[in-house]
Amino acid sequence: MNHQVSSPMSVTMDRPSGRVLVTGALGQIGTELVEALRQKHGHEAVIATDIRKAEGCQILDVMNKKEIHKLVTEQEITEIYHLAALLSATGEKNPELCWDINVIGLENVIAAAKKNNARLFSPSSIAVFGPDCPNIAPQITPLNPSTVYGRTKVVGEQLAMTSGIDMRGIRYPGLISYKAPAGGGTTDYAVEIFHHALKNGYYECFVREDTKLPMMYMDDAIRATIELMDFPLEKLSESRGGYNISGCSFTVGELVKSIQRHLPDFICTYNPDIRQTYADSWPDEIEDDIAKKEWGWSPRFDLDRIVDEMIINLEN
Ligand code: NAD
Ligand code: SER
Repeated sequence: MNHQVSSPMSVTMDRPSGRVLVTGALGQIGTELVEALRQKHGHEAVIATDIRKAEGCQILDVMNKKEIHKLVTEQEITEIYHLAALLSATGEKNPELCWDINVIGLENVIAAAKKNNARLFSPSSIAVFGPDCPNIAPQITPLNPSTVYGRTKVVGEQLAMTSGIDMRGIRYPGLISYKAPAGGGTTDYAVEIFHHALKNGYYECFVREDTKLPMMYMDDAIRATIELMDFPLEKLSESRGGYNISGCSFTVGELVKSIQRHLPDFICTYNPDIRQTYADSWPDEIEDDIAKKEWGWSPRFDLDRIVDEMIINLEN
């Protein structure tokens, strides 16, 4: 892929201000992104939707093209954060459903965004990289993922550049947060470990101690998302379908040691399952020079700071 500043294509820059739609709003990211967007735009301006039911969130199945069109048109939506998806571990258990929700669901949302001239944020993932990727993943490199989930994310990035709308994405690393549970991904161990450490003083990890993956604290991820969406489209390159952003990378062993600063008796054992193979196919680290240069990305949380925040917040 050429690293060139993209042309605005058919995108109209002068959009009327309207409401913001979030799909998959009850998930790990949505729980915190909706909160941040409501602080930014006001409560009423942000419509949270999910296939599950909860207070303050409307039902919307992203497989229902007609309902998406209706909501986007009637509510005069001008910005969409499309978070509804199946993650890697759940997706590999049910690859057809993963393809349908992650690709057809995205196409449905793109069609509605196009009709209403809405901007769209659709997350990508470190899962776009495959075993042939260098250990430190560059922004521009062949994308040959070994998981169906990863392939759906590569398609998503391609659609960002071919759909003719203002569509942007970030290749999120594994996200660590305390407000909502992780949703069926391979990197879930880095969230579960805190709950188990505090509750039982013990965790059996489903990947090896030396497994190293790119990770990020949710505050950094939410800030990156909003900063990217606030940036002028004409200043973004063809990487806008999925920017590499780096938080910090660590092995499970290093995570355990950092947790033991707070809980010296905490014990972690290792019993790798199929998720080890997904983790092994992903890079150890992410090179995020292009996101830094183009839109000023900069992380704030390193491993020890993430652990401090997680322990303090989960203890209270
Ligand atoms: P999550 O699993 O926690 O949340 C996804 C939400 O989508 C759930 O609330 C679920 O009920 C909803 N959903 C599922 N099927 C739906 C459908 N048909 N219609 C409407 N809603 C539906 O996931 P997340 O961690 O919040 O991830 C959000 C996005 O970010 C996904 O695209 C994911 O691939 C991407 N991502 C997440 C991480 C991470 O570590 N959390 C890392 C990389 C990329
Ligand atoms: N954290 C996600 C997962 O493990 C990566 O996209 O599936």
